[in-house]
Amino acid sequence: MIDLTTTYLGLELTSPLVASAGPLTGRLDTLERLAAAGAAAVVLPSLFEEDVVAGALERQQLFTRGTEAFAEALTYLPEPEGADELDRHLQLVADAKAHLDVPVIASLNGTTRGGWIRYASELVDAGADALELNVYGVGANPDDTATSLEVELLRLVRAVRDEISVPLAVKISPFFTAVSHFVGQVTAAGADGVVCFNRFYQPDLDLESLAVTPTLDLSTSAELRLPLRWVALLSGRVSCSLALSTGVHTPDDAVKALLAGADVVMATSSLLLHGPEHLGTLHRGLAAWLEDHEYESVAQARGSVSARSVPDPAAYERANYRQVLRRFTSTYDA
Ligand SMILES: Cc1cc2nc3c(=O)[nH]c(=O)nc-3n(C[C@H](O)[C@H](O)[C@H](O)COP(=O)(O)O)c2cc1C
Repeated sequence: MIDLTTTYLGLELTSPLVASAGPLTGRLDTLERLAAAGAAAVVLPSLFEEDVVAGALERQQLFTRGTEAFAEALTYLPEPEGADELDRHLQLVADAKAHLDVPVIASLNGTTRGGWIRYASELVDAGADALELNVYGVGANPDDTATSLEVELLRLVRAVRDEISVPLAVKISPFFTAVSHFVGQVTAAGADGVVCFNRFYQPDLDLESLAVTPTLDLSTSAELRLPLRWVALLSGRVSCSLALSTGVHTPDDAVKALLAGADVVMATSSLLLHGPEHLGTLHRGLAAWLEDHEYESVAQARGSVSARSVPDPAAYERANYRQVLRRFTSTYDA
């Protein structure tokens, strides 16, 4: 019997397979199916500060509209639909906590310092076992320097760390000049782990309407390679937990993530494509691979192909770039 247990953010998990934030972790019925299929922890969809603020504004407008003329109108006003995003989200955390026997990780995407701190603490008070900061941002302002943006992010991590006592993860983007250094800084600021990586959705252009269209394509296994490389480079070099997110579709993908050094392997797209029970397929496939290759535990396999463990660590760095360019052969016959 393979020992699949792992530790993530100091939490003891029954396996490294975690359902990352997405629609399936936003409903109690699918959360229960994920847990039944073997999810060792779940990350709830992010609470977005804009949604909370928009809901509050909508509510304020509804309650004040016409009240100067008819004071009694207040009593007739309907509860605005979808207005109280915060309450609904906190209820989801509480329900998930009450019904699941795996750790529930809440996720937050704030827009103001005060918002990050306030909602982080509300999510924890609602019962979250850990908090993931979804620090999605596009550094589009030419006045912002890389350093100023990083310093602000680190301040934020520190501020949230000071506010909450549960484990803290930061889901970062791959777009840092010095990823390894930044992960070290995030850890020093108080994060217990980083999630590599947040997946950026690039808008498209509609050539008829000339509109910028938000576009979301689910990932494929090919996208695993970006987080795989970085987890392999970070493994054993940083003291925080490492979660790999993006491109985990098959049991082989999960095995690769583990061998690169991930403490946990997260999936969203593959679960949306195949249903929550796909987590069971990943779980069984991972266990079977470890058994076939005579590993006794996840701990034994973790990081065994990280940059620190392989004979040629340069394969994860520049050498690999040169090799692929030289080895490429075109199928186009000129
Ligand atoms: C429809 C959808 C909704 C998502 N919502 C969130 C979210 O609320 N917060 C977050 O941090 N990531 C969110 N993600 C990103 C996923 O958690 C994950 O990091 C990303 O999809 C890459 O993993 P994958 O290749 O397994 O899909 C979402 C992804 C999808 C497809």
